[in-house]
Amino acid sequence: MYNSKIIGLGKYLPEHVVTNDDLSKMMDTNDAWIQERTGIKERRWIKEGTDDTSAIMGAKASKMAIERSGLTNDDIDFIVFATMTPDYYFPGCGVQIQEMLGLKNVGAIDIRNQCSGFVYAISVADQFIKTGMYKNILVVGSEYHSNGLDKTTRGRGVTVIFGDGAGACVLSREEDTTKGILSTHLHSEGKYADKLIVESPSIKHWVPQILESEEEDLSYFPYMDGTFVFKHAVVRFSEVIMEGLQKNGLQKEDIDMLIPHQANLRIAQFIQKKFALTDDQVFNNIQKYGNTTAASVIIALTEAWEEGKIKAGDNVVLAAFGSGFTWASAIIKW
Ligand code: COA
Repeated sequence: MYNSKIIGLGKYLPEHVVTNDDLSKMMDTNDAWIQERTGIKERRWIKEGTDDTSAIMGAKASKMAIERSGLTNDDIDFIVFATMTPDYYFPGCGVQIQEMLGLKNVGAIDIRNQCSGFVYAISVADQFIKTGMYKNILVVGSEYHSNGLDKTTRGRGVTVIFGDGAGACVLSREEDTTKGILSTHLHSEGKYADKLIVESPSIKHWVPQILESEEEDLSYFPYMDGTFVFKHAVVRFSEVIMEGLQKNGLQKEDIDMLIPHQANLRIAQFIQKKFALTDDQVFNNIQKYGNTTAASVIIALTEAWEEGKIKAGDNVVLAAFGSGFTWASAIIKW
């Protein structure tokens, strides 16, 4: 058995910045409410008329990750792509990346685990490397939310939170099993699927049925029971971080860097307090980007690394919670 380690990190954020004040021109909201409840100051939304999509942004982030890894495209053995906002209903974005980057005809799979998507994706990739099946895997998280949000007052409880962006990493074989990804922990609880959901179009409620609906059918916009999600998130984040620490005989104080999924700054602050971590031990960038679901953990990890906040030998913890419900963690010896 091998371990896997991250050898290259990349990100791509669309240029177009949307501030809270910009949102208040579209709907009844305001900067104070958004900052107080979520910590978000601005987010990036793909500008209408530009080419970016989940796959294209994912390809841009991947290019950076592969360049930084020192490998070439030909060295990539497999693609794992996490997104809840794919370019097409099918096929998935993974195969688009293969084409866009001109990779060999390697396998490509898509992961559908929303905010937990990237941690699930890295766990899947890790298993392929552990068993020796693949040596270098491209793992991508990318989301294009802005085109699917209700930008009226009706949608304000959800729309102000989400942003667009992408991150990617190259995961590679590590012979020393005390280094790299030490363990990953995945969970789900489908009974709460309807608490955070985009219901349609689904195969049981397809486009003609939406259009034929006598009352306005808004099931194609995301629905979220925010308070319910919040309460579950703080519990599950804590549990899954503890599970990872215990599995590796680590204590709370052994965490050098916690990268929580950027759902809400208040959730991250709650976890920080619970684990008695200093500001230097937790990385947040939700203030700039909002919640980019499957892209958030990998964008944050990339920025923490770019800012020199992660050093060789550090214990890095990734943790996420989201729609499903799903939640997950990864414990990494950098
Ligand atoms: N601007 C201004 N007012 C808003 C608003 C907005 N953008 N969105 C909602 N409100 C209003 C509501 O209509 C409600 O008004 P009322 O009291 O007159 O009915 C009031 O603010 C409180 O709404 P509520 O939904 O109870 O707010 P909250 O304190 O729960 O905060 C969230 C809302 C969404 C920020 C919060 O619940 C949250 O972050 N939940 C977790 C979300 C999350 O992490 N999702 C991603 C998956 S991990």
